[in-house]
Amino acid sequence: MECRRIVCALLLSGLVCFGHSWDLRSVGIDQFRVRHVSLYHSRAFLTIESHNVSLVEATWPENTGNQRPRVLSSDVDDRSCRGVRHVLGTDIDRLARLWVLCGVRHSDCPPKLIIRSLLSPSTGEIHHRFRRTDSDQRLHAIAVDPVPASDGDTRAFITLVDEDYILLYSLFKRTMGKLRFEKNDLTSLHPISLSEVSVNNNRLYVADTVSDRLFALPIRNLRQLAFPEDGVQKIIMKTNVTYIGRLLGRPCGLKLDFRDNLLYVLQRDGAIVKWTPGRSLKAENHRVILQQGTNITQIILGIAGNAWAVSGEYVSLETRRHCMKINV
Ligand SMILES: *[C@@H]1O[C@H](CO)[C@@H](O)[C@H](O)[C@H]1NC(C)=O
Ligand SMILES: *[C@@H]1O[C@H](CO)[C@@H](O)[C@H](O)[C@H]1NC(C)=O
Ligand SMILES: *[C@@H]1O[C@H](CO)[C@@H](O)[C@H](O)[C@H]1NC(C)=O
Repeated sequence: MECRRIVCALLLSGLVCFGHSWDLRSVGIDQFRVRHVSLYHSRAFLTIESHNVSLVEATWPENTGNQRPRVLSSDVDDRSCRGVRHVLGTDIDRLARLWVLCGVRHSDCPPKLIIRSLLSPSTGEIHHRFRRTDSDQRLHAIAVDPVPASDGDTRAFITLVDEDYILLYSLFKRTMGKLRFEKNDLTSLHPISLSEVSVNNNRLYVADTVSDRLFALPIRNLRQLAFPEDGVQKIIMKTNVTYIGRLLGRPCGLKLDFRDNLLYVLQRDGAIVKWTPGRSLKAENHRVILQQGTNITQIILGIAGNAWAVSGEYVSLETRRHCMKINV
């Protein structure tokens, strides 16, 4: 009798492990693509592409099956334009606030940024509406600076598609600045689409997804930069940008690790590669982390050297998993 009980227990725990996946059927979502994931301890905020939902809270690692995901967006039937809708991406700052970048789908509501506390949901939300001329459908991604500015401000970088600038949002001033890329002689850098960004304590990289160029921005100067006083409508900040070179292909999912190495996804090759700063961007100075991954959209770095590649589609239909453990 004792023996049989032990066998049962083992089988059960095996089943629970097998059930890890972001299976969202319990909230009526069957077909979806994972666009982006933000983590706060064991809470995972999934930006997804589906017909009626764009933001879901689930768990990390992927769902254990007994915790029901929660839909956070109201993508249909929100005539007031107050709700979370058409989410493009999220990030979480050092004070556990969720930053949600909302785009537009049918030019009904303006794109906006919503900031809410994860720890005390009753605290009021901050809503910032973008001016339409700035951003028609072109917003792409958001990354909050993990280090406060020298005046204590929390700031976020927001990228756009097919533009030669990125936006910098100040939470103190509740306003948006533009970091525009232009040459000293003011000749054009076009074509350029500065849509990929990664920031850590020491570095800020921006990549152009048209010509695969990589740029470094002086993050310390940016953190010391004071936003102009209230009432100033348009802000253009000038800062020197360093051109580093060309990446190995069109990059996505730029990610800086704790040692300032840069990891990025080459979707065309299904690869994740790693480059150590200080060396040139040649192929031999890259290390291949993953080969033959399909539809990888993001790299997640955890503690103790754990890392995952997130796939937009299921890695395998049987397990309905989106994450693959990788060694960086
Ligand atoms: C989305 O649509 C599905 C049916 O396709 C429905 O079951 C689900 O409740 C809807 N979710 C929301 C948040 O509207
Ligand atoms: C940018 O670099 C040039 C030449 O190195 C220098 O003269 C200029 O002051 C720098 N500008 C800023 C905003 O740091
Ligand atoms: C990757 O994603 C694209 C577009 O979402 C899809 O057409 C393609 O089948 C996917 N590839 C695999 C191997 O899942």
